Amino acid sequence: MKAGFYQFSPAFGEKEENIRKVRSAVKDADIDLLVLPEFFATGYQFISGEEVAELAEPVPHGHTTEALTALSLEKGIYIAAGLPERHRDRFYNSAVLTGPEGFIGVYRKTHLFFEETLYFTPGDTGFRVWDTKIGNIGVMICFDWFFPEAARALALSGADVIAHPANLVLPYCPDSMPVRCLENRVFAVTANRIGEESRKEGKPLRFIGKSEIVSPDGRILVRAPEDEEALMTAEIDPKAARDKRLNPFNDMFRDRRPEMYGKSGRGNQRS
Ligand code: ACM
Repeated sequence: MKAGFYQFSPAFGEKEENIRKVRSAVKDADIDLLVLPEFFATGYQFISGEEVAELAEPVPHGHTTEALTALSLEKGIYIAAGLPERHRDRFYNSAVLTGPEGFIGVYRKTHLFFEETLYFTPGDTGFRVWDTKIGNIGVMICFDWFFPEAARALALSGADVIAHPANLVLPYCPDSMPVRCLENRVFAVTANRIGEESRKEGKPLRFIGKSEIVSPDGRILVRAPEDEEALMTAEIDPKAARDKRLNPFNDMFRDRRPEMYGKSGRGNQRS
C-alpha cells in the first residue's frame, strides 16, 4: 500500500483555506494512507483559552472531522490528522482516523508540549491501534515521540504503521524516528509542518519540516525538505512490521523481559 504525508504551512485560524489546500494537494495523488500535521486546519500557536474554544470542534460531529471523512469516502483512503477537540468542558490536542468506511476513531495527545499545557487537557484515550483494510494503524502526536513508551505501547498493541501528526519545533525527531521504528520493528509516517508562527510577543515558533516515512529496519524511505511544501509517498508492506525477528536468535518482542524492568533499582538496595 502507499503511505504518505502532506507537509505544508497552515494559515492560522483559516480552517476552510487549509482544508481546501489539503483537498487540492491530494486530488490526483495515488495514496492509501494520508497523514496530515497536528492542528493542520487551525494552525498551532494559540494565545488564549477563548481562541481554543472558538476553533476547537467536537469529534466526530465537527466540521473538520466531517470534511476528512468526506475526503476519505470520496477517495477511498485512510486519513490521520490532528485537530483541537472540544469534549464537554475540556479541550484535547487530538488526532482522528477516517477511512473509506467513515469515521474510525480519535486519539488524544498524551504528552503535551510547552504552552499546549496552558490550554489543553492531557489525553485520556491511551494509545490506540485500529485494524483496517490496509493494516493496523496506531496514532501518536508530535511530542509523544520523545517518550519511548508511546511507540512501544502502539507496537505492543499490534500497530504496523504509526501515523504521527506533528508540529515539530525542536530538531531531534527526524533523526530519532528511525530508532523508534527499529526498536519496535514498525513503520512510521511523521507529517510535520513548515513555516513560522509568531502570534505571541517574543515567542516565535519555527517548524522544522523534514516529514518522513521510516521502515521497521530504521531506514528513511522518504524525507521532505525543511522549508518546502511536499506531498510524498512510499510503497510499504504493513505485514513486514509483524515479523519482530532481528536474526535467527533474537525476536525483539519475545526477548523483552518486563519482569527485569520491574525489578530494576539502585545497586545498593537490598533485594
Ligand atoms: C509538539 O508536540 N508540537 C512539539
